[in-house]
Amino acid sequence: MTAPANSAPRPRRFLPSGPLKGTIRVPGDKSISHRSIMLGALAVGETRVTGLLEGEDVLATAAAMRAMGATVERTGEGEWSVSGVGVGALLQPQAPLDMGNSGTSTRLLMGLIASHAISATFIGDASLSKRPMGRVIEPLSQMGAAFEASEGGRLPLTLRGANPAVPIEYRLPVASAQVKSAVLLAGLNTPGITTVIEPVPTRDHSERMLRGFGAELEVETDSAGVRTIRIRGEAELKPQTIEVPGDPSSAAFFIVAALIVPGSELVIQNVGLNPTRAGLVEVLRQMGGDITELNAREVGGEPVADLLVRHSALKGIAVDPEIAPSMIDEFPVLFVAAALAEGTTVTTGLDELRVKESDRLTAMAEALALAGATVVETEDGLTITGTGGEALRGGGPVVTHLDHRIAMSMAVAGLVSRDGVEVDDTRPIATSFPQFESLLDGLRG
Ligand code: S3P
Repeated sequence: MTAPANSAPRPRRFLPSGPLKGTIRVPGDKSISHRSIMLGALAVGETRVTGLLEGEDVLATAAAMRAMGATVERTGEGEWSVSGVGVGALLQPQAPLDMGNSGTSTRLLMGLIASHAISATFIGDASLSKRPMGRVIEPLSQMGAAFEASEGGRLPLTLRGANPAVPIEYRLPVASAQVKSAVLLAGLNTPGITTVIEPVPTRDHSERMLRGFGAELEVETDSAGVRTIRIRGEAELKPQTIEVPGDPSSAAFFIVAALIVPGSELVIQNVGLNPTRAGLVEVLRQMGGDITELNAREVGGEPVADLLVRHSALKGIAVDPEIAPSMIDEFPVLFVAAALAEGTTVTTGLDELRVKESDRLTAMAEALALAGATVVETEDGLTITGTGGEALRGGGPVVTHLDHRIAMSMAVAGLVSRDGVEVDDTRPIATSFPQFESLLDGLRG
């Protein structure tokens, strides 16, 4: 997060709530918003974006693209105009790029810069400075980029791009859309064909959008589900008009809130339901969640629907680890649903949660336990025995560790607690969902 160093933490106690009723609309998808600005900045001419998420993470991307020569301007609420410089023509930034809390900005921009004849220094907040960058340094070094990173491959780091870069074939060692995207974006300005092999599918917004902007990109899926993605470099991107669909990862907090608060009946409009992102809805339905898709349609080339969510008696399940990549950001709030379900929910295969904005397994285990839930932390997951719908005791303050999703998840837990849940700092929420608290407060009436 980019809050000034001297801004004080903003604690808040999230109190028990009556039924959540009404209709809300969630803000634009964070992944698609980042990519709209980056690709717009590489297309010659004006890209117009509506529904852009105006959270701190996306604003960090906008500032970085400006520092490298693009014109990025806000023209109205969620309405932005991006005039790009062309692939290969990014300018040398004159100061370090401050990525705030944003791993997506950092890793995708490292990819873009890796095949340009410029260098850049990346800095970020305390959370981002702990996150591993080796996963992108490795393939981008193979392509010819040079790195001087802090210990353990972390920020601050300086990257010197290679021009021309070398096309590679890279098999992803971790299921990560950020690593995949970094290599594909580097491939945009690399002669020849850059190939990424993805054994486990992750969000495919980069592939869809690169094609939409006119890059030559092919995806082949074999019988085992392994995806091979090839992009032809020295691409020429054409400016686009983009409508960003609502973020399923932001909708997630209200989906779970409506399921666990008795008497709730909530319509959440404009929820992106790309199959590589929709795992949470599937898992909640397996737990007995009553979620109906209304008005299914396409927005910006992505499947979207309004979701009608009714309070439901949830049951614990064993969550199939194969579904994890399609709901990787939604586990913190799934753990809250599990804490209110009847019986035990077991999650496994979630090592990646330890390297998000915080170690989300430890952070959620500690926060939920403090609020009175029964949680066991294992090496790669949490096992949670729920209350069967009884309110949690509540308490706190729970520690958010500069992680927006821990703050919002525990705010949701507070809605079904006796004493409320105190969150130590709500400032990080602005990285991805600045309207979260006002939407929630509006629903409580
Ligand atoms: C993202 C990919 C995911 C996700 C992050 C956004 C993206 O990260 O957690 O919030 O936009 O590509 P990983 O690639 O680390 O899984």
